[in-house]
Amino acid sequence: MPGTFDRTRGRALTRDVSPRFVDAVSSFFHTRKPDLEAARGAQQAYFTALRAHGSEVVTLPALEEFPDCSFTEDTAVIIDDKAVIPNLGHPSRDGEQDSIAEYLKDYFEIEKMPEDAKLDGGDVVFFDEEFLIGISTRTNKSGAEFLASQSKKADIDARIFKVPQSTLHLTTVFSSPRPGTIIAAEGHFEPKDFEFAEEVIWVPEEEGYAANTIGYGDQIIMAEGYSKTRELLLDHGFSITSVEMEEFREVDASLTCLSVFIG
Ligand code: GLY
Repeated sequence: MPGTFDRTRGRALTRDVSPRFVDAVSSFFHTRKPDLEAARGAQQAYFTALRAHGSEVVTLPALEEFPDCSFTEDTAVIIDDKAVIPNLGHPSRDGEQDSIAEYLKDYFEIEKMPEDAKLDGGDVVFFDEEFLIGISTRTNKSGAEFLASQSKKADIDARIFKVPQSTLHLTTVFSSPRPGTIIAAEGHFEPKDFEFAEEVIWVPEEEGYAANTIGYGDQIIMAEGYSKTRELLLDHGFSITSVEMEEFREVDASLTCLSVFIG
């Protein structure tokens, strides 16, 4: 079954914004209190952008007790016919994954991580023939190694590396929208980190948030309001759809956080 691991983006599993969204965890981009209604509106615009690129959008109801529940990327990693269900790395988020597993069990074999293994799906990016798995403040060595072992069972390589303390997740300042291409933010990574990649597009540090994109071949969804990155991506042959992400950025969430692709 296709999924995260092969860039098929046929079906996105998403979740309504929590009524307690204003209490979502935030440490990196926070400037003010986020607005719940504006976030709900932005999420609808995001769904429209996914649908315009051909993705079916499945939306589960919000989990009132989890302010971060709409960030489904963190709650599962799809590898072939298996859904790896992690223990989330922040205590206020651990538990969001249970109802995702409940939904996915009708479509995938469920593989839960052992108790000591922590991982957020936001630390996992599929790059061509392998998974890149970051160890971060949310993902520990056991979590990264467990995911790597699952990926190797499916004959997909995994490369584990350290996510710098300057960012929450790997995906916060990094994405791979099309085969061979990495978009990464200056100031967090260095060219030697990605010597294995054919093409690395470096986003200026002050626009680092815009390195998180969703790619459909040469068509890309990016956050609105990042003109330098927009120019760079146009120069590299992408056509662009922009989505307003201001409210989600207040709680350290990016475009990819809002969905996990399951088909
Ligand atoms: N607010 C997103 C996260 O901390 O995971």
